[in-house]
Amino acid sequence: GREKETGIIRQFLRDHVGGRRPGSLYISGAPGTGKTACLSRVLLDCKDELAGSKTIVLNCMALRSPQGVFPAVGQQLGLPAATGREGVRRLEKQLTARGPIVLLVLDELDQLESKGQDVLYTLFEWPLLPGSRLVLVGLANALDLTDRSLARLGAHPAGGPRLLHFPPYTREQLSAILQERLGQVAGDTVLDAAALQFCARKVSAVSGDARKALDVCRRAVEVVELEVRSQTLLKPLPGGDSPASPVPKRVGLPHVSRVLSEVFGDRLVAGGRGPRGDTFPLQQKVLLCSLLLLLRRLRAREVTLGKLHDAYSQVCRRRQLPAVDQAECLSLVTLLESRGVLELKKAKEARLAKVSLKLEEAAVEHALQDAVLVGSILTQGLC
Ligand SMILES: Nc1ncnc2c1ncn2[C@@H]1O[C@H](COP(=O)(O)OP(=O)(O)OP(=O)(O)O)[C@@H](O)[C@H]1O
Ligand SMILES: [Mg+2]
Repeated sequence: GREKETGIIRQFLRDHVGGRRPGSLYISGAPGTGKTACLSRVLLDCKDELAGSKTIVLNCMALRSPQGVFPAVGQQLGLPAATGREGVRRLEKQLTARGPIVLLVLDELDQLESKGQDVLYTLFEWPLLPGSRLVLVGLANALDLTDRSLARLGAHPAGGPRLLHFPPYTREQLSAILQERLGQVAGDTVLDAAALQFCARKVSAVSGDARKALDVCRRAVEVVELEVRSQTLLKPLPGGDSPASPVPKRVGLPHVSRVLSEVFGDRLVAGGRGPRGDTFPLQQKVLLCSLLLLLRRLRAREVTLGKLHDAYSQVCRRRQLPAVDQAECLSLVTLLESRGVLELKKAKEARLAKVSLKLEEAAVEHALQDAVLVGSILTQGLC
């Protein structure tokens, strides 16, 4: 699913490393969208073409501080240890001296955000220095890291870095990735086709994260392995009766579905399942929906209890549902807080207490959406 993106990276390396032209590329995308995987693959594919240059790959997550990137690069270039301005000056001298092209790949670039963004700015300015032999590739989650920190580079005649964004994977792409991965396993089918499709559909609806999709499948396989192991431990019953019912050997839809709700919505259905298979009471669901809608409308991280109660009452009125008063609304919020879904910051007046979500918005919505009513409340929005 990343043919276009890998093609662009390959061409960039060809033009800049192969063509001995300094430059920079900024790759952004949400977690699990394949940035690291694709870049590693291209580096491997282009090994021969890159043979004449010096390739340095650093994961910025391993650095103690943003400034730590400078000595780390220096060390890779074989420079004697130096910190502060002196270290940066020596690096700049080295990178503008004669020599092979240096390809510097910085993964998890978000870690380099610093006050005033001077670390990122310094790095992305290097390829623009006269006589530079640096080709820089940065990978990050934030889409706008460059806007925020590198706007000044835009004014430079050679401009800022080339941008490449990895969008979340679609259902079809996730399903292809999972199928391909399972295809590497010899023997019987491990995962039902329906279970695989279900996983791809749910994960693409929430985040489009391939790591999550693979984890869900891995976890479902473990669940089945555990089932099999515990059942084979059961000895045949005395009197010649056959052992427990045959053990399932293939991962099916129920396994994947169980893991998915553990991953995305466990806290919403925690506390055991009721007779209707759902112990998350309606009033709490409606309140959560109202909170989601309000946060979105106000583009805020938190709202006051008073505002939340108003929005909730409005939703109940429209749906002709009985609404609880503000005092009871507070106890609903407290219940949701104890389930780890919300956070309540007390204030002198209950009305002014601040309510915020503790789970990812998408995870809450995903868990709520299965109910028809809640789904339609969410789609209609507030008036
Ligand atoms: N197109 C793909 N084909 C096969 N596997 C993939 C693909 N994209 C991602 N994966 C797998 O999904 C997992 C996550 O991908 P990767 O580490 O590249 O994500 P990332 O975008 O770098 O995420 P992060 O921002 O968290 O670093 C890895 O195990 C990777 O092998
Ligand atoms: Mg990565």
